Amino acid sequence: MCGIVGSIGKINTRKYLIDGLYSLDYRGYDSAGLAFLDSSNELKIFKAVGKVEVLDSIAPKEFESSIGIGHTRWATHGAPNETNCHPHVSSHKEIAIVHNGVIENYRALKTRLMGYGYSFESETDTEVIANLLEFNYRKNHDVLDGIRRTIDELEGSFALAIIVKDQPDRLYFMKRSSPLFIGLGDEYKLLASDAVPMIKYTNKFVDLKDDEYGYISKEEVALFKGYDKLEPEITHQSPEFLNRDLGDNPNYMIKEIQETPQVITRLIDNYFDGEKFLFNPKMIEAIKKSDDIIFIACGTSYHASLMGVKYMQYLGKRSEAYVASEWAYFPVFTSKKPLYILLSQSGETADLIRCQKIINSRGSINIAITNTKGSTIERNATFSCLLFSGLEIAVASTKVFSAQVCLLALLTGAIEKHTNVVTHLSVVTSALEKIIENKQDIENIASKIENASMIFFIGRGNDYIASMEASLKMKEISYMHCEAFAGGELKHGPIALVDKDTCLIAFNSDMSTNLALRNNVKEIEARGAKSFVISYSSFMKDDDAFLVDNVKSYLSTIVMVFVSQYLAYYVTLHKGLNIDKPRNLAKSVTVE
Ligand code: M6R
Repeated sequence: MCGIVGSIGKINTRKYLIDGLYSLDYRGYDSAGLAFLDSSNELKIFKAVGKVEVLDSIAPKEFESSIGIGHTRWATHGAPNETNCHPHVSSHKEIAIVHNGVIENYRALKTRLMGYGYSFESETDTEVIANLLEFNYRKNHDVLDGIRRTIDELEGSFALAIIVKDQPDRLYFMKRSSPLFIGLGDEYKLLASDAVPMIKYTNKFVDLKDDEYGYISKEEVALFKGYDKLEPEITHQSPEFLNRDLGDNPNYMIKEIQETPQVITRLIDNYFDGEKFLFNPKMIEAIKKSDDIIFIACGTSYHASLMGVKYMQYLGKRSEAYVASEWAYFPVFTSKKPLYILLSQSGETADLIRCQKIINSRGSINIAITNTKGSTIERNATFSCLLFSGLEIAVASTKVFSAQVCLLALLTGAIEKHTNVVTHLSVVTSALEKIIENKQDIENIASKIENASMIFFIGRGNDYIASMEASLKMKEISYMHCEAFAGGELKHGPIALVDKDTCLIAFNSDMSTNLALRNNVKEIEARGAKSFVISYSSFMKDDDAFLVDNVKSYLSTIVMVFVSQYLAYYVTLHKGLNIDKPRNLAKSVTVE
């Protein structure tokens, strides 16, 4: 799971590569590297362990070059050290490549190439591609033929930018399963894993499809699949949704949390015209006709899909949610007319892509709910609904969780033809605005829990779902040990863990469980733990830690999770950790 960039032609190569890598480091930040041909066509390579900042500091501040490639890495094969860092160069130094993806048959290929005298320095699967490309190129000194042969021999996923040393006027590429886009400028052409690095230079793109390969030059794009030459299909992207400006914010997470009210308003505008819902009628019909609505997702998106299950069950539909990495290997087919809803911020999550392949191979209808136009999951779905949330850059998903739940609520409203969901969502945005005003109170709670040895999050019903998401958010950025429990489950085991160093956060948005939940809190307090109740104001108690305005109960999760996002944010800020890029994680998880 990595990010790649490449450029050729009249452009500041260094600036494009380095800025591009900064914008792609959500895909991994274990190491970064770049390669370019200088004015004498010498291949220059710079590599750095760690974030793009390190590469930026060691690469020459200026260089004359009209062809270059760059890479930011999330380690899969081999430790994050300089040897394993991309770009990788073939044994005879003729080819340099950057790669995003995983080659499944790399061991067999490596053994074969070693038999032909090829040597390997790194532990990566990528170096195998560099050598295989060179081996195939050397057969008849035709790069395109060498790439075509290489594509046929590789098993797995790849997006590659390829410099061939004796062809400085062409930047080659090839792609399968991993995303790769071409950006079109008048006197330059660009490559990148997504459109973001290129949007400052162009709004014209070619979204490459599987097994396509070719080259870009200053003037042209040459595209092939197998032996066929293809006409590139040009698409346009709006810069508005690819904006990376931090503004006055110290980091992306806080920016993205605070954008949530606007995101909800924008989502309403995109799916409701003031009188009727704007979802594809065929999609709504398909949902109505199905006998089982199956949600599949990972992480935060999975938690949003748990709300989807509740909404579908409310409509009287059979519905369940699965974690993608489980369903991918243990799928269940118990209904005649299943319809699958796949939630993914990135639309590139490998576990979910595996599920979608199974679903498509059975000819089943699937709806992609994603924030990323043109992503693999969006492209391969029967229907898709975009979340229009703008880029989410912080690894911790915040505004997109709210957008996912909001979209599922709008969809439910559309199926039922109940437009009052729109009014209910407007009340949510006001409640969120008020939380933003009172965020200092959440920071005070953060100061009281940040030294706990363990945090329990509890709730019942929708608040239990909020607890699960709150716990994930807190652990992924603050590295604190957190657990989420349904309030009533504590006494069935977990309460044995509680001592005076435990903190409890309880979400309380449901009148029907208010008393029961408060009893659960008392049980924990009696064992010495500190507790903090986040409650609807209509059934508050004097010692509650934070109050939120009442919203319709089916939307309470958005509000409670919003509070928990601030809480995780402040705990992490106080600990001085990297909020946007927590250790060991990447924004887009494109490996299984
Ligand atoms: O892009 P996706 O929504 O498919 O990603 C799924 C998870 O990897 C993601 O939600 C992850 O759990 C987040 N880092 C949570 O904040």
